[in-house]
Amino acid sequence: MTKRSRWDPVVKLTHWSIAAAVLANAVFTEEGSNAHVWVGYALAAILGLRLLWGLIGPAEARFTAFLPSVRRARAHLREIRAGAPSEHKSHNPLGAVMIYAIWVCLLVIIATGISMVGLPSMAENRGGPVPTASLEYEHREDGEYEDEDHEEGLAGEIHETAADLLYILILLHLAGVLFETRRSGRKVILAMVPGHR
Ligand code: HEM
Ligand code: HEM
Repeated sequence: MTKRSRWDPVVKLTHWSIAAAVLANAVFTEEGSNAHVWVGYALAAILGLRLLWGLIGPAEARFTAFLPSVRRARAHLREIRAGAPSEHKSHNPLGAVMIYAIWVCLLVIIATGISMVGLPSMAENRGGPVPTASLEYEHREDGEYEDEDHEEGLAGEIHETAADLLYILILLHLAGVLFETRRSGRKVILAMVPGHR
């Protein structure tokens, strides 16, 4: 068996910071608060770095190492059914489909989030972002944005739906990671931890 490749530090650090940012915005920050939006901007920057790394990073981190493909995903399912061991230099073909789905979801969440509040350069001196859709969003005293007649705009609806979809994908992602750990006997999770092979 060939030695399992290690993930480089950029892949590892962007993974755990993206996971932390998603957890923060899904559980801890108040929807639409300044904290939520700043965590969102940070998330956008980290994802940007990871996507850039997909072009210029080491072989295993590149998009070309794990392009999503239905054919390869099916072949991988057949391997699983046959109980055949499989080695992949990068993410396995099912993981690859999942990862692109997560990235698309994150990009939709970021795009709709930014379309609601604008870019960081548009932030007010008081340290908070300004809603660009000021006709739709009223700036409240407590630093949150709320729709004037409590109706969500289209961007808000899409933002929320994409977030719900993301939560489902993350559950599937965790199930996939656990499944692959049991199936392969490899320390799949440790391989993502900084300092481990
Ligand atoms: C993965 C990261 C994120 C998650 C999981 C997330 C999740 C959510 C959820 C569940 C809501 C409530 C939706 C609603 O009821 O309308 C919300 C609202 C909001 N989010 Fe995010 N969000 C994320 C990233 C962002 C980003 C990147 C921005 C902006 C840069 C942003 C800006 C907002 C704003 C302004 C609202 C209020 C919208 C409204 O009242 O309709 N979010 N977010
Ligand atoms: C909000 C939560 C999470 C999100 C959005 C997320 C997303 C991702 C993404 C996008 C990748 C691809 C990494 C890359 O190439 O850049 C990945 C890989 C991975 N994630 Fe997560 N992840 C989350 C939570 C977790 C957790 C909690 C664990 C561990 C229990 C985990 C374990 C892994 C592992 C082991 C891989 C590498 C899979 C492989 O060997 O091919 N993830 N995740």
